[in-house]
Amino acid sequence: MAQDKKSFAEALNAQIANEFAASQSYVSMAVYYDGETLPRLAAFFYRQALEEREHAMMMTQFLLDTGAPVEIPGVAAPQTSFEDASAPVRLALAQEQKVSDDIFALVKLAREVGDYGAEQFMQWFVKEQVEEVALMGDLLKAVERSKENLLLVEEYISREGLGQEGDDATAPPAAGGG
Ligand code: FEO
Repeated sequence: MAQDKKSFAEALNAQIANEFAASQSYVSMAVYYDGETLPRLAAFFYRQALEEREHAMMMTQFLLDTGAPVEIPGVAAPQTSFEDASAPVRLALAQEQKVSDDIFALVKLAREVGDYGAEQFMQWFVKEQVEEVALMGDLLKAVERSKENLLLVEEYISREGLGQEGDDATAPPAAGGG
């Protein structure tokens, strides 16, 4: 493998670890809300956890498709206790903003090393991050508005179908996806 492609593959392997870490973090948030008997918030984060795992598997498939080594990473334990019901969403928004920076850095690297296949692959994640930052921003406003009565945010998630967009035909294939 050419040196340039190798540096992108190494960076993408590091991002796979970030995606699995985000998935674990969302499971932790979902469990917190489940424990607080807030089932819509719990379901929202269980879904987000699956999405993040799917992102990791898309990146895995790209590495497989391009003949690059894949390192399935260990993941550090996520935060599991939260000071109040809006804390997980605040953390989720910060996490998504950080992932956006990571994704933009990967696009920049792909461009710098002239790996156009990698650059094209990353474009879907750019769009996805814009959507996820917006989604977490909306949810944070809703949770903070509903501080005195969290059932309002539960109703909002349910009514708006928050985070329940259907299959995206433009999404890259994921490893194990059939
Ligand atoms: Fe896959 Fe929202 O980061």
